[in-house]
Amino acid sequence: MRQQIDTSPRPLSKVKPFRVMAVMQRAAELEEQGRKIVHMEVGEPDFSTAQPIVDAGKQALDQGLTHYTQASGIHELRDCLVEHYRLCYGVEVNRERILITPGASGGLTLLANMLITAGEGVLLSDPAYPCVRNFIHLMAAEPQLIPVGIEQNFQPTLSQLDHYRRSNTTGLWLASPSNPTGTIVERGRLQSACHWAKSNNLHLLVDEIYHGLHYVDDLPSVLEFDESSFVVNSFSKYFGMTGWRLGWIVVPDAYTETANMLAQNLYISASSIAQYAALAAFTDAARVIFEQRRQAFRERRDFLAAALKEIGFQLTDNIQGAFYIYADISKFSDNCEQFCHDLLERHGVAITPGTDFGEYRCNEFVRIAFTTNMQNLELGVERLQTALCS
Ligand SMILES: Cc1ncc(COP(=O)(O)O)c(C=O)c1O
Repeated sequence: MRQQIDTSPRPLSKVKPFRVMAVMQRAAELEEQGRKIVHMEVGEPDFSTAQPIVDAGKQALDQGLTHYTQASGIHELRDCLVEHYRLCYGVEVNRERILITPGASGGLTLLANMLITAGEGVLLSDPAYPCVRNFIHLMAAEPQLIPVGIEQNFQPTLSQLDHYRRSNTTGLWLASPSNPTGTIVERGRLQSACHWAKSNNLHLLVDEIYHGLHYVDDLPSVLEFDESSFVVNSFSKYFGMTGWRLGWIVVPDAYTETANMLAQNLYISASSIAQYAALAAFTDAARVIFEQRRQAFRERRDFLAAALKEIGFQLTDNIQGAFYIYADISKFSDNCEQFCHDLLERHGVAITPGTDFGEYRCNEFVRIAFTTNMQNLELGVERLQTALCS
């Protein structure tokens, strides 16, 4: 008998490269040619890791703490996170529910493998962080995109959840604050989303990686409402440890064993040195540094948002967290990639095209990051004025 050959496209064929990487590469080439480039494309803090964490990392090296750890991470760090949830959100999360991962990226990989089966659908905002779509594709599942605009704070409404849900939908993935829009899912809406997911028998995952880098008084964790939801978080952003590759997830009690088994198989453990270093992130000395940095980001946001509006970009007044402005460029162009290309080549300003983040009106948007100092932002604004106002 002839063997049946599966001719369906491989999941890999649906995964797209980040356009921002091409922007960064071209910016580096121009810099090699001697051009001064203003970097407003980069999605990581420009500040290097806080000194108490660096010192703790060095100490871990000197002490030979260089071996694999438990797959779920060292107890001490998970206990710090237990305390973090108690202090910041007033919730009790037992240690077993927390797993330390290689960045939020490692956490998302694990959760995608644990929660999604081929052929299923997962609801996501459009725009959203691009890897999330790709993780879903890699599971041979379907990202089900919900178009979100400025009028709804770039977060899905309940009626949209009803509208975009399909018979194969098994999950809802949210991000608060969001990359690229900087908007949050406010308390009431998050509570309703939990309720909606539960009553429709879907899993709910919330990416809380920009928590800490928020500029509003109230930023709830989904764990305040729902012990059965999944959380991904990281030491990359607020804690300023992008290169150390350290994050964490919180899973419901019923999933701890499976999550551990997947962690053992996918990556054995997160970096031991990074884990010991991160213990210092929970000291008063580090907290003071993080809060100074948060204040610096807030000042940059205020400056940049006002300046961009003056130039003619349209943007929300509600940039509640993260370090991005998702700006409508329709006054200038309906082709964001060409727009970004021209700004980089002719004016030395690097920003990210909206096409990186989804499909909905993506050609009319760009993401501008305030991950560079005030002096550079001022220069960037000056160049944008020259490019777009003369
Ligand atoms: C929303 C979101 N989730 C996850 C990640 C992955 O972060 P990391 O793997 O550095 O923790 C990023 C990185 O930019 C992000 O913006």
